[in-house]
Amino acid sequence: MAGTPGTGTTLITGGTVVSPTGQTLTEVLIDGETIVALLAPGTELALAAERGAGAVIDATGKLVVPGGIDAHTHMEVPFGVTTASDTFETGTRAAAWGGTTTIIDFATQMKGQEIRPCLETWLAKADGQCAIDYAFHMIVGDVTEGSLKTMDALVDEGITSFKLFMAYPGVYYADDGQLLRAMQTAAGNGAMIMMHAENGIAIDVLAEQAAARGDTAPINHGYVRRAELEAEATFRAIQLAKVAGAPLYIVHLSAAEALEAVAAARHHGRNVFAETCPQYLYLNLEDHLGAPGFEGAKYVCSTPLRSKHGPHQRDLWQGLRTNNLAVVATDHCPFCFKDQKDLGLQDFRDIPNGIGGVEHRMDLIWQGVVAGELTVERWVEVCSTTPARMFGLYGRKGVIAPGADADIVLYDPNGTTTIGVATHHMNMDYSAYEGTVVQGRVDTVISRGRTIIAGGAYHGRAGHGRYLTRGLSQYLT
Ligand code: URP
Ligand code: ZN
Ligand code: ZN
Repeated sequence: MAGTPGTGTTLITGGTVVSPTGQTLTEVLIDGETIVALLAPGTELALAAERGAGAVIDATGKLVVPGGIDAHTHMEVPFGVTTASDTFETGTRAAAWGGTTTIIDFATQMKGQEIRPCLETWLAKADGQCAIDYAFHMIVGDVTEGSLKTMDALVDEGITSFKLFMAYPGVYYADDGQLLRAMQTAAGNGAMIMMHAENGIAIDVLAEQAAARGDTAPINHGYVRRAELEAEATFRAIQLAKVAGAPLYIVHLSAAEALEAVAAARHHGRNVFAETCPQYLYLNLEDHLGAPGFEGAKYVCSTPLRSKHGPHQRDLWQGLRTNNLAVVATDHCPFCFKDQKDLGLQDFRDIPNGIGGVEHRMDLIWQGVVAGELTVERWVEVCSTTPARMFGLYGRKGVIAPGADADIVLYDPNGTTTIGVATHHMNMDYSAYEGTVVQGRVDTVISRGRTIIAGGAYHGRAGHGRYLTRGLSQYLT
């Protein structure tokens, strides 16, 4: 087993190292926290290490991939009267179990708050708690003169991406003028603008009308958050970003029509990027959000799950192949069914929005490889390498190469994983994928040279994870 960070060498032998550009039988030599060499199997250096210079991990039959980077999580985030159920400690431990070695969470400013104390709060929540490395985007929930100035300062401090909301009036919502001003600021300081693209004003009208009719079941969450309102907001955000000259990254894209808007912008050479999440690739409005009784509450998230009768899932997989969707993140925002989701028993508008999934992203997207939707290389790209490049971590993260942090996953393509509340490590009393058995299994997880998952056990510790400051996105031209 690899040792403590900073001490000794570890050699990973016999495995197939995967990058976005190919697969090779290569040995990986780690010294302390860092990858120091990639070696042809059986080289002198490798043999020397094997003879006793350090630890050896036999990866025969395994894929050796850069640790996953989940660029969209919400540990401990308040939502209405409740708070996401994973702490930084439980959530990052669960992430580790699933082969994710870095999260980028969201420090969150709400309407009426100042950014700086909000950021301090989130840094304090995470400090000393994380099993894996972590960074923050900043949610700008109140675009004021002060917020714009702070955005400039944060870029210098290594927080180089800002999420804005076209939804949630009164909480996070920014009007078009505010969006434009924030985008102009990003155009000036090089930051990435991340957008929650749904027309929240129109959604709230439809939601109020549904409730007034007595349509209060969870499925109405999906009915009122119509695909047209995601597409309209996506298109509007793209146009505003063009006017401002800012790059744009659409988060949690679920509707085929929104993807069309992204594809058109990219076709015209625009710096527009998009992310989707496993829930949109596998779950749907009718079977999940529309499950009998109140079960659908388990699947309330925004953007919502889309109809199985539409082209959404087919188009999302295609978007992942063509790079119109560049990243798969989880939007991990877990709430328990009891005492959290059930706040909305009488009215779907009171169900906290979010699904927990930080533990299962690598396995679930691997199913795209199993089904022939993605190549092995593309799996690595959308789960690790592109998030690193997109958010200014590449070089340290997202790659197996000399000089990079030794964040490495040994993935067993012949193993299986059973997903469910009895086996998962997230602090949730249900699983959105309960009982699903998937092909593939995370075998070993190394975080900065330390083996934190091996032999079906957790060997990490809270506080091993280090806060990462980030550079600018590599996708800016
Ligand atoms: O339902 C969701 N996605 N909850 C998390 C907050 C957000 O908008 O990403
Ligand atoms: Zn969002
Ligand atoms: Zn989110």
